[in-house]
Amino acid sequence: MVSLSGRLASVRLPLLTERLALRLPELADVPFLLRWINEPAVFRPLASRHRPYKRPEEVAWVKRSRRAASKGENLNLAITLRDGRTHVGGIGLEVPDWDNGHGWMGYWLAPKYWHQGYASEAASAICRLAFRDLAMHRIDASVFEFNPRSMRVLRKLGFKREGRKRDVLFRGGRWHDEVSFGLLARDFRPVEPR
Ligand SMILES: CC(C)(COP(=O)(O)OP(=O)(O)OC[C@H]1O[C@@H](n2cnc3c(N)ncnc32)[C@H](O)[C@@H]1OP(=O)(O)O)[C@@H](O)C(=O)NCCC(=O)NCCS
Repeated sequence: MVSLSGRLASVRLPLLTERLALRLPELADVPFLLRWINEPAVFRPLASRHRPYKRPEEVAWVKRSRRAASKGENLNLAITLRDGRTHVGGIGLEVPDWDNGHGWMGYWLAPKYWHQGYASEAASAICRLAFRDLAMHRIDASVFEFNPRSMRVLRKLGFKREGRKRDVLFRGGRWHDEVSFGLLARDFRPVEPR
């Protein structure tokens, strides 16, 4: 049992939405993480690295995430259905700049759970937590140019496109740009499930 402290002391986990529960990752999640993060449909739009993730890296990530949450630094969470057992993906809120309330969000789902509004629902819960409970001011998100699905998730929440970084990723024999999005607290539009 990890208790959150510092800036995250007020956060109560699991974070519940209408259909989802967001909780800290556990070592028992590692087989799920390895199976789905390395699935090409997830890996390609998510990771800029070229090698698949290996078990020691995932174990270290789980431990690091639990430690960062307990110290009140960042919140990397597993996304499950409300039953708490069916693991569907992950979402993270990293806060490099607490002084200015400035964070970064990323997310992914195993492909069999796509197209049901789950990413929008989880991301909306994280933004609500960030702006309402943690009094943050802005959240950034970065999306490779070939990922319109993720851009749609961000736009629904009120994120605005703020820029484009050229040639960030070399994949499939060519360079790809990364599109930068930002959401200010005042522009946030919570997404309700379908
Ligand atoms: C991106 C991802 C998280 C979206 O998950 P999801 O649960 O299917 O997303 P949602 O159902 O909440 O919303 C997807 C939206 O994109 C829309 N969409 C789907 N395919 C699209 C496409 N090719 N172009 C534009 N929009 C698209 C959907 O219609 C939906 O919008 P709507 O609710 O207005 O209909 C999921 O596809 C994923 O895990 N991808 C791999 C990892 C990844 O890309 N992570 C994000 C890195 S920035």
